[in-house]
Amino acid sequence: MKVLIIGSGGREHALAWKAACSDKVSEVLVAPGNAGTALEPGVRNATVDVDDLDSLISLARAEQIELTIVGPEAPLAAGLVDRFSRAGLKCFGPSAQASRLESSKAFAKDFMGRHGIPTAGHAVVDSVEEGLRQARAMGYPVVLKADGLAAGKGVVIVDDEAAAKQTLADMLSGAAFGAAGSRVVIEEFLVGEEVSFIVLADGGKALPLASSQDHKRRDEGDLGPNTGGMGAYSPAPVVTAELYRQLLAEVIEPALAGMRADGCPFTGFLYAGVMLTPGGPRVLEFNVRFGDPETQPILMRLQSDLVETLLAVLDGRIDQITLEWDERTALGIVMAAGGYPEDYVKGKPISGLDIAPPETVKVFHAGTRMDGEQVVTNGGRVLCVTALGDSVAQAQAHALEWTARIGFEDGFYRADIGHRAISPARTDGHD
Ligand code: AMP
Ligand code: GLY
Repeated sequence: MKVLIIGSGGREHALAWKAACSDKVSEVLVAPGNAGTALEPGVRNATVDVDDLDSLISLARAEQIELTIVGPEAPLAAGLVDRFSRAGLKCFGPSAQASRLESSKAFAKDFMGRHGIPTAGHAVVDSVEEGLRQARAMGYPVVLKADGLAAGKGVVIVDDEAAAKQTLADMLSGAAFGAAGSRVVIEEFLVGEEVSFIVLADGGKALPLASSQDHKRRDEGDLGPNTGGMGAYSPAPVVTAELYRQLLAEVIEPALAGMRADGCPFTGFLYAGVMLTPGGPRVLEFNVRFGDPETQPILMRLQSDLVETLLAVLDGRIDQITLEWDERTALGIVMAAGGYPEDYVKGKPISGLDIAPPETVKVFHAGTRMDGEQVVTNGGRVLCVTALGDSVAQAQAHALEWTARIGFEDGFYRADIGHRAISPARTDGHD
């Protein structure tokens, strides 16, 4: 059968690569894909944008696609799955209604409140004055979040009134994130370690994927501005068997039951970004898709057939699936373009991609494209060099070794991905 992956990032390269490994799959198409998917055996790019729903449906029909997997949130929020379903096309992802868990932070906070899911205290405001009043009442620092989708960049931590005033004005005027910022969620600032808990959901039940952690801040030591993610690893040793059960019982199960009770059952990848605070786990956000870059290390460890698994979930057989994982750790390091997460230059030739890495390393492409025979940069996050190792430290060393062979002008990466799992010797992780 043929499979279609929608998107063009590192997550989509990983999904395409893994889908192409399935015995059931003759070819994988990626719309629009990147240089990595163009070069991947068994994979072909189709030049259709992720927001061109009509053309995506035409493509799926013309190519007789039997399963479509959606990478990014924007087409989900725009109703891609609803449109595909109406057209009789099988598609793995949530409906537009269910995607509000990610596409509106105000909706998500209200949802968590109604269904007893632990999260940070918050207020929703649409004026600077009200925002400042709420922030003062909460006490600085506070976290300001644009209500709508802002490509992972709509979250700003402010330490004082001056910064709050400026950020609120930028968000609410539309200058920072357009219409996504017309309402702002103000949250109390939580302290702790973050984990990504991602499950497959069939509208009611959940099948958890291996645990993972990413590094959202740009700079080493988890400093600097928030990004889409500078690296990730799986498993996350901080997720003990007990915490795993707790996250399922206190976050995932109430979320799926709540969505069902609210009339929009959730099917797809459900991602809870959780802060492990001294008072217990608190949900920072829900994403309605697989994480990027968490997908890269998670899929590097998945030994089960991805396509068979997703088809089984869609066919109501989630109970019958047991996922098999490589016991080793996988760790991915993002190589980014100078200036990211702000402005950066595209079109820089990338060197070091011509030598095939060993089986324990995979270089997933994100913002890349072919310029004739040459791979050039085409985005802020350019590559995610992912390696397997017997421990987090070994996986990190292996990924770093391979990262050092690849380069492009003004490129940068963090050499400390996984540091939290390496410094305190943790051996009690789950999955
Ligand atoms: P979000 O998109 O809501 O997950 O926010 C992006 C990142 O901002 C998170 O991964 C955290 O690192 C940080 N963040 C979000 N909310 C809070 C909070 N209430 N307290 C502390 N950090 C936060
Ligand atoms: N790695 C965080 C995200 O996918 O949003």
